[in-house]
Amino acid sequence: METLMVGLAERSYPIYIDSGLLDRIELLLPKLPGKRAVIISNSIVAPIYLERVRAVLEQQGVHCESIVLPDGEQYKNAESINAIYDALLAARSERGTPLIALGGGVIGDMVGFAAATYLRGVPFIQIPTTLLSQVDSSVGGKTGINHPLGKNMIGAFYQPVLVLADTNTLDTLPDKELKAGLAEVIKYGLIRDLAFFEWLEGNIEKILTRDKSALQYAISRSCQNKAEVVGMDERESGERALLNLGHTFGHAIENGMGYGTWLHGEAVAAGTILAADLSQRMGWLTDRDVLRVRNLFTRAGLPVTSPKLGADKYLQLMGLDKKVEGGKIRFVLLRSIGHAVMEGNVPQEMVMQTLEACSA
Ligand code: NAD
Ligand code: GLY
Repeated sequence: METLMVGLAERSYPIYIDSGLLDRIELLLPKLPGKRAVIISNSIVAPIYLERVRAVLEQQGVHCESIVLPDGEQYKNAESINAIYDALLAARSERGTPLIALGGGVIGDMVGFAAATYLRGVPFIQIPTTLLSQVDSSVGGKTGINHPLGKNMIGAFYQPVLVLADTNTLDTLPDKELKAGLAEVIKYGLIRDLAFFEWLEGNIEKILTRDKSALQYAISRSCQNKAEVVGMDERESGERALLNLGHTFGHAIENGMGYGTWLHGEAVAAGTILAADLSQRMGWLTDRDVLRVRNLFTRAGLPVTSPKLGADKYLQLMGLDKKVEGGKIRFVLLRSIGHAVMEGNVPQEMVMQTLEACSA
């Protein structure tokens, strides 16, 4: 079993990564001293994994309540959060009772936000079951929900007390979701880890065929990168913002197309191609670099062309981005492959040219 640490002083926590960890649920026991927990999942994941997790915990003397939410990004909203509060209050769940998020990024983000706010804060544990959530969303404490006017606009920084990633849960994940997770994996290579990007160029097909050791390596290396960045800049005052490569454009695609139409990872992939094109227009990436980026996303089975929402619509939606400062959109761009930077001075005509060149 691989154990990584997110180093945040007294709020530091372990990330456990291995195949078969759902059979080692006793790893959670140190975080369940009150012998009570609430498992929160969704209508897709619960029938596959919830009873298994509950059974092992109950065997260990932990009393479990469970809450099952509807599945999908379109339910990542205030109504679902209220449904969690309602169930917690009805069950008289107390301050020391941890919430366990069992599912992908949507469940993880919502349960984290519920944990941050219920009774002004209760502990929470992440059991991520998608590639995206195992490499990104379960680590780092960004929690929240969408607002009709913007993605992830309501939320809190609130760290879990433990992350347990069982790579076997990916066996039941649809191919499309596995590919979507790869967008965030490729992101780490692009923003800060050239050697990892090169490794992905050599091994992407192994990941797509779910080779266990390739998957384990990709997840560990991604989590290492994420843990390092979060340890340096928990609240995104600097380097952490670079983890949003492709997300300014990507969130506009998700929102513009209607949440749930494009998967988050698909939108990030197309958004990263836009960011690479813009980086080339800024004179930083070469044509060959852009081609390398495009080729890797194509081989990963991800979209490299953005939907034609219209430049005005893109600019309006990107104006809602959390990185906007003084009304100015700040883009995460690439100085080179493996080196991302934040840039606030991008001429609007250049953004228009990029949108024109890369959308259809
Ligand atoms: P998701 O949670 O919607 O999961 C994708 C689909 O797979 C869902 O239908 C889900 O029910 C299903 N599923 C989950 N695990 C499964 C399994 N093992 N077997 C079969 N089906 C399974 O989507 P996601 O891609 O995991 O997460 C996307 C969300 O994560 C977005 O809302 C995004 O904003 C958020 N996110 C957050 C962060 C962060 O730092 N907090 C980072 C990246 C993304
Ligand atoms: N996924 C971006 C972040 O955690 O900062």
